[in-house]
Amino acid sequence: MKTLKTLSYVFFIFLFAVSVNNISAQKKAHKYIGVKKCSMCHKSKKIGDQYKIWKKTKHAQAYKTLQTKEADKIAADKGFKTKAVDTPECLECHAPTHSVKASLIGKKFKIEDGVQCETCHGPGSDYKSNKIMKDRDKAIANGLHVYKTEDDKEKLCGTCHNKKSPTFKEFKFEERWEKIKHTVPTKG
Ligand code: HEC
Ligand code: HEC
Ligand code: HEC
Ligand code: HEC
Repeated sequence: MKTLKTLSYVFFIFLFAVSVNNISAQKKAHKYIGVKKCSMCHKSKKIGDQYKIWKKTKHAQAYKTLQTKEADKIAADKGFKTKAVDTPECLECHAPTHSVKASLIGKKFKIEDGVQCETCHGPGSDYKSNKIMKDRDKAIANGLHVYKTEDDKEKLCGTCHNKKSPTFKEFKFEERWEKIKHTVPTKG
């Protein structure tokens, strides 16, 4: 009888620990909401229409590129047995969210959007509201990634623009940044 009591006590503590752990994990895990949601505000001219600029970059096509014959050939030459678009080693850079837990992917999120806003700026479920977005520190506290120095930016690019890419081309930051930069006009 006594052991049973102790056992149930231990079990209760165990349950408690598990639930506390879950709550703190939930607090940290921001969800991916998809480009469409970001575009609701980042499409306006006043803010600099980052959506339109991004849409014209190759980043927006990065997933679709994997659906080409050229990509399948590259994958086959590397010894992969799967189509490029089904190969995790290709998706790792062309659509990195492929490895994110399904529970953290929002309904409107589309993997077909390739290298998208949240790939670089972090999952937006908790910073997307106007009130939080307008306050940079709050946005950062809620999961927004910003890159303060040139060095930070270059490091970000280097996570994908590197020799692990089968078609790697020398990466000169200034030149490439010119092709994808999407500034807020008021900030120049
Ligand atoms: C409800 C409107 C709204 C939505 C939705 C929204 N944003 Fe914003 N965002 C803003 C506003 C307003 C600013 C502040 C612009 C300024 O600095 O004048 C901003 C600023 C930013 C900045 C610049 C932060 C800085 O100071 O360096 C980034 C990056 C950003 N948003 C990314 C995103 C991403 C990614 C999404 C989608 C996950 C998103 N935003 C969704 C309104 C929004
Ligand atoms: C998550 C991975 C990833 C990150 C981070 C990333 N890129 Fe890319 N980038 C790609 C992929 C993949 C392509 C090829 C897309 C395609 O052709 O389908 C690409 C293509 C490009 C292109 C088009 C090729 C060209 O030169 O015309 C430019 C420009 C570019 N990236 C600039 C940048 C810059 C600047 C940064 C850092 C601020 C950056 N990228 C960060 C994955 C990434
Ligand atoms: C380490 C990141 C990375 C990995 C892994 C990767 N790619 Fe890419 N891929 C890129 C980048 C970055 C570019 C843009 C080319 C550039 O400017 O260097 C690109 C471009 C391409 C292109 C466009 C052709 C070109 O020369 O621009 C194809 C096709 C492609 N990749 C297929 C694949 C396939 C297939 C795999 C898997 C076997 C793969 N990639 C794995 C980063 C990667
Ligand atoms: C390849 C990575 C990458 C992608 C994709 C990307 N950004 Fe950015 N973004 C950056 C970097 C790097 C900066 C410059 C440093 C900073 O302000 O964080 C930046 C800056 C910004 C800024 C602030 C500009 C300023 O003048 O202060 C906004 C707003 C923004 N991004 C929104 C977006 C939105 C919205 C999308 C999708 C439509 C997007 N970004 C896609 C990397 C990216």
